[in-house]
Amino acid sequence: MITEIGKDIERAAALLRDGGLVAIPTETVYGLAANAFDADAVLRIFRVKERPAFDPLIVHVHDRAQADAVAHVTPWAKELILNFWPGPITLVLPKKPSVPDIVTSGLDTVGVRIPAHPMAQDLLRALDFPLAAPSANPFGYVSPTTARHVADQLGGKIPYILDGGPCMVGVESTIVGEEDGRIVLYRSGGVPKEAIEAVLGPLGGAVRKVMPVAPGMLDSHYAPRKPVLIGDVNALVRAHVGKRCAVIAFRDRWDAWRCETLSTSGDLSEAARRLFAVLRELDASNADLIIAERFPEEGLGRAINDRLGRAAAKR
Ligand code: TXA
Ligand code: MG
Repeated sequence: MITEIGKDIERAAALLRDGGLVAIPTETVYGLAANAFDADAVLRIFRVKERPAFDPLIVHVHDRAQADAVAHVTPWAKELILNFWPGPITLVLPKKPSVPDIVTSGLDTVGVRIPAHPMAQDLLRALDFPLAAPSANPFGYVSPTTARHVADQLGGKIPYILDGGPCMVGVESTIVGEEDGRIVLYRSGGVPKEAIEAVLGPLGGAVRKVMPVAPGMLDSHYAPRKPVLIGDVNALVRAHVGKRCAVIAFRDRWDAWRCETLSTSGDLSEAARRLFAVLRELDASNADLIIAERFPEEGLGRAINDRLGRAAAKR
């Protein structure tokens, strides 16, 4: 199959109406989309990504009415919707029967969000069904933040990549749900925990294991192929003399074989936006290992630390 890259929303819509797969831009990362109401189309997503069937997909909608068609929107969810949609936050809510079991891996909940990317919104408006879409990478690898990233890994396997430019947030959505009456954080992401807590009060940690692993939380996720180490950069570089150490730094420059500074001005949003592209670049370089600084555990720094931690956990 030849994979085309373009900006033709009508072309993307026609392929999706036909039960096909299209990679789409969102403000967080690129998604691999199919008609969420078509179980056969959704099955193709799992095949192309080589994703295990127990890992549920997020359903992307274009307005509140469409969210109501797939989920029971609870009072706390309404608060978050008013404050953060469209935007990088996914709400895990009781599902409605319209959503096939394959989308939710048989769970009685569904993850829903309205993406803030104008092209994704135009596409969703052109369709009369929502889009199930995980990140458009092979299972377990770093998420794509450009159309080129998608083509590098899924080229030849899907017919079309809708090119919406580089993703403005650069890390996946924050995922929030409810467990026994408590609102819990399943995954740190584009909407900072502090912003959610300003609306709802303190969030809990997820305890329920609905899958073989906690939802959205496979340890080996977001991992490049090279070893990743996190911590005191100087000490780690010194411990690997003779090796080509590629450093991922927040605002400083470190003396090493190579150093990528994510934001010289110390802006965590800028750092998050660049993180996955830099991880990919270093993974493709002839570095022996990747050494990352620990980022401030606040705002988007939480999501950065989380993704780096998972990248390091693979070894
Ligand atoms: O920003 C994002 O969220 C991107 C863009 C494309 O929207 N999507 C994304 O999808 O990151 P994915 O599949 O790579 O990660 C979604 C995570 C999964 O790991 C899954 O475990 C969790 O969301 N999830 C989905 N539905 C869930 C549910 N009903 N309960 C708990 N976790 C759920
Ligand atoms: Mg993913």
